[in-house]
Amino acid sequence: METAEFLERSQNMKNNNENILSRRSVLQGLGASAAALGIFSMTHSLTADDLPRDANGNVIPGFGEDDKQTRREIKENSGKWEKKSDRKIRVGIAGYGLCQFGSHFFYQNHPNVEVVAATDLDPGRCKALANAVGAQKTYPSCEEMIKDKSIEAIYIATDAPSHARLAIMALNHDKHVVSAVPAVFGFEAEEDAEELFAAVKKSGKKYMMNETSTFHADLYAKRMQYQAGALGKIIYSEGEYYHDGVGAIGSYNPQNGKIDLNGWRRALPPMWYPTHATAYYVSVTGGGRLTEVSCLGTPGLYPEYKDGNNTHKNPFGTEVAMFKTSEGGMSRMAVSWDMKNAHGEQGRVYGQKPHNNKINGARPALPPGVGAGGHGGSHGQLTNDFIESILLDRKPIVDISEALNMTMSGVIAHQSALKDGQWMKVPQYDL
Ligand SMILES: NC(=O)c1ccc[n+]([C@@H]2O[C@H](COP(=O)([O-])OP(=O)(O)OC[C@H]3O[C@@H](n4cnc5c(N)ncnc54)[C@H](O)[C@@H]3O)[C@@H](O)[C@H]2O)c1
Repeated sequence: METAEFLERSQNMKNNNENILSRRSVLQGLGASAAALGIFSMTHSLTADDLPRDANGNVIPGFGEDDKQTRREIKENSGKWEKKSDRKIRVGIAGYGLCQFGSHFFYQNHPNVEVVAATDLDPGRCKALANAVGAQKTYPSCEEMIKDKSIEAIYIATDAPSHARLAIMALNHDKHVVSAVPAVFGFEAEEDAEELFAAVKKSGKKYMMNETSTFHADLYAKRMQYQAGALGKIIYSEGEYYHDGVGAIGSYNPQNGKIDLNGWRRALPPMWYPTHATAYYVSVTGGGRLTEVSCLGTPGLYPEYKDGNNTHKNPFGTEVAMFKTSEGGMSRMAVSWDMKNAHGEQGRVYGQKPHNNKINGARPALPPGVGAGGHGGSHGQLTNDFIESILLDRKPIVDISEALNMTMSGVIAHQSALKDGQWMKVPQYDL
């Protein structure tokens, strides 16, 4: 990146993050007093001022959706949420970085959850997270929090490279784990996938990956169709995650502990972050898998990709993968950080039989106080699904097998792109 451009992007980010934290402190202060008076059922309600922004001050895509509208739709089609248990799962939350995911998933509002602890490596972000989720205890790291024997489940909302390591550690300490995407990341992904899968199997605990596309209204409706047998086999599916300039939103940089433009998002190989796209086959079918891949990439438009001279050794800004599927179909998945006028997390699915309008594809009702949230109204759904999977001892909607297929298919796709589209097999992890 040119020095002047880098400095400008960094300064914008710094100002923006400081503004976010100061706006949040005011709101959290208001939230705490109001909650004490019993005015709000939520620890804090999100306003436009309270949302994560990129280096240019724009709200990061996926946040800032019309929560009321989504909730209205769900209520009309799914009726009332039914309480499954009086039990409260004791949850510890890790990570309050740029996207502030630690507080955006409504754990603090779920009637079957007690958020007992919060952590972030940065003391300021740790305190802000604890305030936002009403946690009494804080820990200087997720590693320390995992040792707390009173915690039953850990929500990992830290940077992508740390997910697998922290999830494995938490499972080995007998905790249920829910992790932000992706499940595994980087050059260690294949090794970590083996270890993570083994840790889930050995512990017998729940593991879920919070893939937000899974609870997009259109994907969920197709899932209901598929699972009722209405569509037959999926002949062809396609999924996309397009986010021009993703590297400009900053991310955790382990070199200095800050969130800046030299963190893990810098020159990120598109297919190392594939799950918003690959969910459009894996989450629709549940049991369907991406099995073989041929992928192509194009040289990234921004300077940090030039000749792959970056920590990820990645030259590509856009990658498009063609997959074979386990039911004999095919699937095209694309991720891009540099195409103009391309944005969004979306997909399409085509089966052997037509969509049956008589099948109700509405997403489940949500508990009182739990919002639908961002990324297509998926945040509250993911949280409720994970908590109910523990309460009812059932499979979470994105379990370890699906999480690894959604993630590893992209990891192998990137390897294929580096070999100019060579067909490669995706390792399978079925419980
Ligand atoms: N639609 C989606 O599903 C979606 C959207 C945005 C972000 N995400 C995911 O959410 C996660 C968080 O994103 P972000 O942009 O806020 O990340 P980030 O890189 O900005 O911040 C990560 C945070 O984790 C903290 N952290 C790192 N290691 C830790 C440890 N061992 N213990 C405690 N804290 C630790 C860091 O201090 C930092 O505050 C990422 O994994 C990202 O992939 C998913």
